[in-house]
Amino acid sequence: MDKFVIRGGNPLVGTIRVSGAKNSALPCMAAAILTEDEVILENIPLVRDIDTQRRLLQSMGAEVERPEFNAQHSTTISCRTLSEPVARYEIVKTMRASSLVLGPLIARTGAARVAMPGGCAIGGRPIDLHLKGLEKMGAAITQEHGYIEARVDARVGRLHGAHIVFDKITVTGTEDLLMAAALAEGETLMENCAREPEVCDVAALLTAMGAEISGAGTATIHVRGVSSLHGARYRISPDRIEAGTFLAAGAITDGDLIVANCNTAHLGAVITKLEEAGARLDLLGPDAVRVRAHGKLRAADISTEEYPGFPTDMQAQYMALATQAEGVSLVTENIFENRFMHVQELVRMGASIKVDTSTATVRGPARLSAAAVMCSDLRASASLVLAALVAEGESVVDRVYHMDRGYERIEQKLSGVGAQIQRLGNLFAPREAESLAG
Ligand code: EPZ
Repeated sequence: MDKFVIRGGNPLVGTIRVSGAKNSALPCMAAAILTEDEVILENIPLVRDIDTQRRLLQSMGAEVERPEFNAQHSTTISCRTLSEPVARYEIVKTMRASSLVLGPLIARTGAARVAMPGGCAIGGRPIDLHLKGLEKMGAAITQEHGYIEARVDARVGRLHGAHIVFDKITVTGTEDLLMAAALAEGETLMENCAREPEVCDVAALLTAMGAEISGAGTATIHVRGVSSLHGARYRISPDRIEAGTFLAAGAITDGDLIVANCNTAHLGAVITKLEEAGARLDLLGPDAVRVRAHGKLRAADISTEEYPGFPTDMQAQYMALATQAEGVSLVTENIFENRFMHVQELVRMGASIKVDTSTATVRGPARLSAAAVMCSDLRASASLVLAALVAEGESVVDRVYHMDRGYERIEQKLSGVGAQIQRLGNLFAPREAESLAG
C-alpha cells in the first residue's frame, strides 16, 4: 500500500503541467468499440483508471496499446474482433466508469453483458438513466446475478433513435447514450444532457469517426444515426480537475505557480471562486494560468453544480483551501450523497469543520499540524495532500492508490515546483487489493 510522506510549509513556485483528462479518455476509449478500424487517442493520462479501461477492453478481445510506452502518451485501440462482449465484475467493481462500454457494445454487436457497477465511497452510483435510455432505443434489458444483460431483437438488428429526456443530469449517461445513438437507426434527440467538456470530447471523437451530432456541450443534443463509423485520431483535452487542483495548491501554499497545458475556458467557475477567496489569478493565454496568493485567503461559499457550475470533483480540494481562509465558508455538495469522507481526516489535522447533511461549515484560518491520514477516494486524496502541503511537520498520507487512479505522477509534478513529497512503496508494484472505487 503506497504512502506519501509530505513535509508542509513550502510555497509552490514554478510551472506545473496538466495531463489529459481522465474523464474524457475513459469514454473515448469505449467509443473505439463502435468501429472495426483503429482509433488513436493522444494525450492520455498515465493513471490507474486508464489502465483498468485498457484491461477491460482487452478482456473483450480488443488490442490496446499502452500509452506509457510512447512520448505522445497515445494509445491505438483496435476492436476489430470483440470475441467476448462482457464487462466482468472483477474489473467493473474497481471502476464505475466501466459502464461506459454498455452503449457502444449494444450499438456495435447488438448485445452486451456488463456487471452492475455497484456503489463506491462517494455514493450509490446507479446507472438507471443509462438503462432507461437504451430501452427507449430498443434494447431489451434484464438484470440477474449482478449483471446487466442487454440485447437488441435479432429481427430488428439495431438500436433505433428515440427522444430521451434525462430525469437527472448524468455525465456518463449522456456519453453512453450518445455513443449508442451514433450507430442507431434514425434520429435521436436527447434533452437535459450533461454539458461537461468531457461530453464535448466524446462528441468530437465520434464526429471524427463519421457520426452526425449537433448540440454537444448544451442541454440538447441531436444525433442522426449512421450505418457504420470509421477510425480516427483524436487528442484528449487537458484535465480541468487536475488543473483546478494545482490552482488550489498554489493558493493554499502562498505560492506563485503557473499551471500550463490546461484549457482556461474550462476553468471559469474554479477561477472565479479562487479569486473570491482572495487568490490572484492571471490568464497567460488559452492554455496557462498563474496563481498567487496576495495577502490572506478569505472565506467564500461553494455549492457544487453540474458544469459550468462549481464542479463536485473540486469540492474536497476547495475545502482544504477553506480551512486556511479567514472566516466561515459553507461547502455544499449537491451531486453525491457521501462526498465528505475527507472531512474527518482534515479535522484530525486541526481543521475546524462541522457537517450538517449536505453542507460543511469550515472555520478558518486553522493551524494544521502534520498527521498520519488515510485516503478514501480519488478527490479526498487530493484534499489531504493539499492540507499536508501547509501542515506543520511531516504527514504520512496512506492508500494513495486512490490518488493514482486520476493523477499522473503527482509526487514528481509537485516536487518539481518545490513541494517536499516522496512516495513510500512502488507505484508499479503488483496491484494492491483495491477497495470499491469511485
Ligand atoms: C462523472 O461520473 C465523473 N466520472 C465523476 O468524476 C464526476 O464526479 C461526475 O460525473 C459528476 O460530475 C467520469 O466521468 C468517469 P453522474 P458519473 O452520472 O457520470 C446520479 C472523478 O472524481 N445518477 O453525472 O458516474 C448519480 O447518482 C469522478 O473523476 C443517477 O441517479 O456521474 C449522481 O448523484 C468521480 N442515475 C448524479 O446523478 C444514473 O443513471 C450525477 O452522476 C446516473 C447518475
